[in-house]
Amino acid sequence: MRKPFIPGPILLLGAPGAGKGTQAKELVRLWSIPQISTGDLLRANVAQGTELGKMADGLMKNGQYVPDDLVNQMVANRLALPDTHNGFILDGFPRTLPQAEWVDSHLSHDLPLVAVKIQVDYNLLLRRITGRLSCPLCQRIYNIHLQPPRRAGYCDVDGAELSKRSDDSVEVFKGRMRSYEDLTAPVIEHYHMKARYGEVNGEQSVARVATDIMAVVEKMRSMKS
Ligand code: AP5
Ligand code: MG
Repeated sequence: MRKPFIPGPILLLGAPGAGKGTQAKELVRLWSIPQISTGDLLRANVAQGTELGKMADGLMKNGQYVPDDLVNQMVANRLALPDTHNGFILDGFPRTLPQAEWVDSHLSHDLPLVAVKIQVDYNLLLRRITGRLSCPLCQRIYNIHLQPPRRAGYCDVDGAELSKRSDDSVEVFKGRMRSYEDLTAPVIEHYHMKARYGEVNGEQSVARVATDIMAVVEKMRSMKS
């Protein structure tokens, strides 16, 4: 009998709007491993009014990154939960070189990290960001142009009213892209130099991109270390 596939730690890389969150949710469904999104964790802190949330709120609204040590500690707390045993999907982390160095020295899974970059061109990113809505209850992601809900403005799953992220304006997107190019491009280069790295075309259907990511991960996992 074929052994069940253990995905292990997976890192999704890509610009704001590339589809990291959308794909992470697909992989959660297909592989039953958790998504660890630093953006979602920070937004939860903002919503709960924690000290971290109060500090992060202003930075996020301007498209600036939250300090590395705070983000690293937040991820360390999340990784300590027992549901990460068969693997997890890092979404939006690491996104600076110090965060990548922290990951490289602190991840203690039996399997090594596989990094997959989702590639999407600038004009489509802009369209994705400006059209995005999400469900405050189940976190499902929609797009008024590209992935509309069945009933305009309401979640297909639980009927909750969809909301727009406070950083999803053209101006803030430009700032996020600058942070991405200055601070996250070197992270992509860092993982590109390592053996377990792949790229997928993110300008396809959600299902097709997910199939391509799974193929990259399965190929990397079949490689001898
Ligand atoms: P974060 O929440 O991580 O934002 P981001 O990196 O800018 O990425 P997005 O969430 O905007 O895009 P995505 O790639 O997830 O795309 P999505 O799937 O939603 O971070 C927000 C902020 O938090 C940062 O700016 C920073 O301030 C702070 N922060 C977070 N992590 C940090 C860290 N590690 N260090 C420091 N600070 C940190 O898709 C986008 C849209 O496209 C949706 O509308 C979706 O429906 C649509 N779409 C997706 N795929 C497809 C497809 N295949 N076809 C059609 N439509 C699609
Ligand atoms: Mg996201």
